[in-house]
Order: sequence, then C-alpha cells, then structure tokens
Amino acid sequence: MRPILVTSALPYANGSIHLGHLVEYVQTDIWVRFHKIRGRNCLYFCADDTHGTPIMIRARNEGITPEALVERIYVEHKTDFRDFLIGFDHYHSTNSEENKILSEEIYLANRKAGHIHTASVMQAYCAKDGIFLPDRFIRGSCPSCGALDQYGDSCEVCSATYSPLDLNEARCSLCGTPPEERESEHYFFNLSNFESFLKEWTHSGALQVQMANKLSEWFNEGLKAWDISRDGPYFGFEIPDAPGKYFYVWLDAPVGYMAASWSYFKQHGIEFDRYWRQPDQVEVYHFIGKDILYFHTLFWPAMLKGAGFRTPTGVFAHGFLTVNGQKMSKSRGTFITARSYLQQLDPEYLRYYYAAKLGKGVDDIDLNLDDFIQRVNSDLVGKVVNLASRTAGFIHKHFQGQLSRDYPEDRGLFKLFLDEMKTIAEFYHEREFARAMRAIMNLADHANRYVEEKAPWTLARDNHLKELQETCTVALNLFRLLMVLLHPVLPSMAEKTRVFLNLQDMNWTATLLPITDTVIQPFRPLMQRVDPKKVAAMVAASMEETPPSAHSAPSPVPVLPVATEKRVDEKPSESQTIDMDSFMAVDLRVAKVIQAETVTGADKLLRLVLDVGPLGVRNVLAGIRSAYMPEQLLGRLVVLVANLQPRKMKFGVSEGMVLAAGDGAGGLFLLSADSGAQPGMRIK
Ligand code: MSP
Ligand code: ZN
Repeated sequence: MRPILVTSALPYANGSIHLGHLVEYVQTDIWVRFHKIRGRNCLYFCADDTHGTPIMIRARNEGITPEALVERIYVEHKTDFRDFLIGFDHYHSTNSEENKILSEEIYLANRKAGHIHTASVMQAYCAKDGIFLPDRFIRGSCPSCGALDQYGDSCEVCSATYSPLDLNEARCSLCGTPPEERESEHYFFNLSNFESFLKEWTHSGALQVQMANKLSEWFNEGLKAWDISRDGPYFGFEIPDAPGKYFYVWLDAPVGYMAASWSYFKQHGIEFDRYWRQPDQVEVYHFIGKDILYFHTLFWPAMLKGAGFRTPTGVFAHGFLTVNGQKMSKSRGTFITARSYLQQLDPEYLRYYYAAKLGKGVDDIDLNLDDFIQRVNSDLVGKVVNLASRTAGFIHKHFQGQLSRDYPEDRGLFKLFLDEMKTIAEFYHEREFARAMRAIMNLADHANRYVEEKAPWTLARDNHLKELQETCTVALNLFRLLMVLLHPVLPSMAEKTRVFLNLQDMNWTATLLPITDTVIQPFRPLMQRVDPKKVAAMVAASMEETPPSAHSAPSPVPVLPVATEKRVDEKPSESQTIDMDSFMAVDLRVAKVIQAETVTGADKLLRLVLDVGPLGVRNVLAGIRSAYMPEQLLGRLVVLVANLQPRKMKFGVSEGMVLAAGDGAGGLFLLSADSGAQPGMRIK
C-alpha cells in the first residue's frame, strides 16, 4: 500500500487554539492514528500560519516584532496540541526558510509558464497607520441598506457584498481615520487558465459530493484571476523581482504543508520529490474546514499544477462547531480555548465526544455540554472502563492477578468482536467515526450483558472459583479488544490499558489472540467520570464581556495582553489604560506554597513549589529572599500569574510569577488570599 501524507489546515498565529479548531485536529489525528495502528506508512504535518496584516498589527500593538509574536504563539499552539494528544510527525511554521524557498519556486514556475500578470488596482490606505487596509480592517455604513458599522467586504444586515471603497463614511478600524484611495500595482494568478484541469480534478473522486457541487457553482460563475500580492509594510515573503511587494498570506500558507514535510524529510532522509513531484507514489490528503474550500480546491491544486507539482489525492472538509446549539460566544462562555478546557477536563473526553459526532460530511457539529457529560460518562466510564473495574478486582483478590490458563467458552463473543473489527475499520477509513463509535459501544453492551448474566460477584460469594476466573478472563479480553478499537480516539487510555494488561502493544496489526495464563497489573481507574462542576467552571472561566461590535473570527480588533512598549504614535493617555480583554487575559490564581528553598548562588531568589489545584504543580523562582525565610512561606496561599510564558533563568525555569507589593527600596510584601481559598481558584 502506498504511503500517506496527511495535513490539517494551518492555524493562524494570531490567536489561541479553541474547541472549534480542535474538531479538525482531533478528526485528522484519529484518522492518522487509525492508519498508523494498522501498520500503514502515514505521516501527519501541520504548521502555524504566520503571515498577514492581523499578525503584523497585533505585534505592533504589543510593541514586539511579528517574529517574536509568532515564536511565542508557536510554543503555545504546540503545547495545546501536545496536550490534546494530536500526534503530528512535525509541526512547522510558514515563516521558515523552507517555505520561502518553496513559495518562490512555485511562484517563479507559474510566472515562467505564463500564469501570472500584473494590473493596477485602487486600494484603501490608512495614512496614519501607514498601511494598505484589508477589507476587514475598514468599517463604515453599508452602501446598500445603510446599516452602520459594517465590514469593508460585506454587510451583516443585508448580506450585500461590495468593495471597501464603496462604504459610506469609511473608517480605518484601527485608528478611525478615513482611508485614502491609492493606486498600486498588484500581481495576479490566472486561475481561469486551469479551468479544464480543475473540472477534471474535481470529478476525480478527490472531493466529497457536496463539495464537488459547490465547485460546479463556482465554475458557473466563472473563475476570476486571484490577487496574490500585497504592498508593504506586510509581514510575509517579498515577491522575487518586485521590491516592496509581498505574497498574500494565502499564497504561502498551503505551501506550508510542503515546507513542514520538507523539514521532516531532511531530518529523516526521505526524498521530497517522491512525495510532491511524482503523481502516483504516495497519497496526499488535506483536512480542512468548509470555510476554506475555495483556497484548497481551486487555488491550491492550480498553483501546484502550474508549477509542475503533483496535486492532492483528496481534500476532506468538515463543518463548524456550535456549542449548545449556537455559535461559540464569549459572552455565553462558550468560546472555549484549548487551555481553558485542559485546566478543567481530560482531553480524551472531548476526543471521544467529537468522534461520536463526526461523519464524513460537512454538517456542523454541536457540542452540547449536558449531552457531553452524559455521553462520556455513560459510554466510556459506564460501558468500557466499568468492564475492567468490575472484574479485575476478583482476579487479584482470588488469583494473584493470574488469568485463566486457557481461553474459556465465551458464547462466541471474542469472535464476534474480531468480525466486527473489519466493519469498524471500514468506518474509520471512511471517516465515519460516529458509526464506528456506535458499533464499538454496541459491542461493549454485549460484553456487559455477559458479565451481568455471569454475575462474578455471586460466583465469588458462592466460591465458584474456576468459573469466576473464567468470567473475568473473558471480560478483560473483551475490554482489551474494545480499547484496541478505541485506540485511535483514546491513545492515552489505550496506553494505560497496555500497561495494565502487560501487552506488547495495542495495534491492530498482529493477529489478535486472547490473552490467557498471564499476570495482569492491579487495576487503577483508567478514566474519571466527567464532573459537571468542572464543566461549569470551564464555562465560567470562558465568560467574558465583549464589546457589541467584536466578532469572533477573524478578529480585526486585536486582543492584547498587557502592552510592553509604548508606540511612538500613541497618545499618552492610551498607554496608561488597558482594555478589559487585556486584563482578563491575565490568569491570576490562588496557589499554595508546598515547598520553599534558597537557591545556591542566587542571593535574591527563593525557589517555590506551588500547588495550583487543577492546574497542577508549578516551580517558580521568586525574587523575595530578602524579605522571607523559606520556612515562613510553607502552606501560605499566594497569588500566582498562571499564564505567563515559562521563563528560562540562570537557575532554572520559572513557570509563573507570584505577586508582591514593593517600593523598590527593599520593602517587599507578598499578596495572599484569605484562608479558605482553594489552590487553583481564579482571582478576578
Ligand atoms: N490559516 C488558515 C488556514 C490555512 S491552511 C493552508 C485558517 N486558519 S484558522 O485558524 O482560522 O482555522 C484553522 C482550521 O480550523 C480551519 O480549517 C478552520 O475551518 C477550522 N476551524 C476554525 N474554527 C472552527 C470552528 N468553529 N469549527 C470547526 N472548525 C473550525 O483558516
Ligand atoms: Zn488607521
């Protein structure tokens, strides 16, 4: 079988990963893990999408360079993905050497083949900010219905679309100045040159039916040339032979897929051309949201084709996430970031819930929080974990952890499970995860019915030891098969199961034989029930007051953590106030000092180990040695800034900061919480 290369869309580097994004990364990760577990050569790549105006503006507002911003977000994104068990083979950045080289190569090859032309365009320019304004950075009243405060590209009231220069009372959304019109030379990619190729590609089976239909509509409307350049200042790659002109972010973004793989291939001695030049050597699949279909099914294959590269085998689009039936919303507390989720809940709950909802279509999926609690508790805890927890105890209590010597008669259940495995594999392969989960839970029901009928607790009471051991051996074997089937969705629980049952691996490759005559480990709970209080705490922590005009994505109004440097063009009064978003971005927590010690060689520092409740334990290096003896601090409740980037210091890494009042002249006073406050509590 041919190797597979899989990608998820590259998240923008101007914001945090949220539960909406995770639909895609979880979906892709399950598919990739499924293939790997079955022994297929499969590689999974992604990267941060770093270029464009919003990132440049946000960096400007924070008083840092775009490079510094992009680096910080890169670490944040990588950590979020790691903690959600998204198993990229490599996570790269579009602001990389590989991406620059490949973007230029693709552009130059297309230019050489006659697919690029230039034309002069009129564009909105903000003289105060010194930048050309993207449509989304201009607001004004709709030329068609007069609605106030609309974006430069379309009206949210009457749905009219227009050019930003047609808006009435247009204003720069950054500074409020009316934009000027300026003429500028732009570079265009002649998409219509690829019409017949694209029509053929669309019907080659690369697309879902709904998507292919959508494309037919676009073909009927006619393919327009695509503006691939932006004027500086712009954070991106300069276009070869065009000083001051930059590739529009969407030109180099998908090239990031290739760049990520190239970076990996270099480290692993894999030939790049085998993956990206030769048409039939490997399969290439892109997972995307339905909002970015145009880029992936028209521009991207055309760019590749025009430059002599292979085109994708398939593009799989998914729908959008709603929470409790509505668009994610900050005011309702349903705009939940990956981190706010992880501060309360186990990532595998969400992975399972998404799996239980996902099919191969583009329908939106809803995260209903009550249903989420109920579903995870009844399926994973009630049906799967329970099978082991009800039977493993007897094996330890009566048989020193030993399973039966031979696999007992089991009413054909083991065989039934193995037979079903083929159907379930087919579901996984077809991205019909909801159907796979239903089939697996159906098997779990069979297994539980068996245990209930055999009633090991009665066998134990009546001292029917042989039958007791056999019943538990069957139950644990079925449990193992369920966990093998769930492995793509629940990799961490599968690993715990592997250790618990002393298995080599949890893959689907080896012929699965029953496990017998072996000693298993004592049972430890493999998953806790979802605690509704924690779900409520997550929603409460995500609740934010938003100004009425704020939109979730893409956000033209940058969300700033505390500004670090004053900008030249800022009015003095602005540098002294921060908005609510900036304040809310600081995560303050009650933390309990569980260890405190001096640091050899550092006469100002104490090393503190802090218990931050659900956030775990943190090491903090605090400059308070002049005012406190370590033993004074033990047990004390302090205030921790919990979402500071970990800072590497000479004496180790500090994972946060504790707050103290000081006059700069030696007086130093730690802030603390009144007794009764619990470690991890949020401070607002
Ligand atoms: N940077 C572009 C993609 C470039 S790919 C060469 C982008 N970034 S994004 O951060 O806005 O979105 C990344 C992916 O997450 C997209 O596929 C997008 O569809 C998906 N989702 C973002 N919000 C989502 C939901 N609320 N629900 C489901 N998927 C969502 O687009
Ligand atoms: Zn402006």
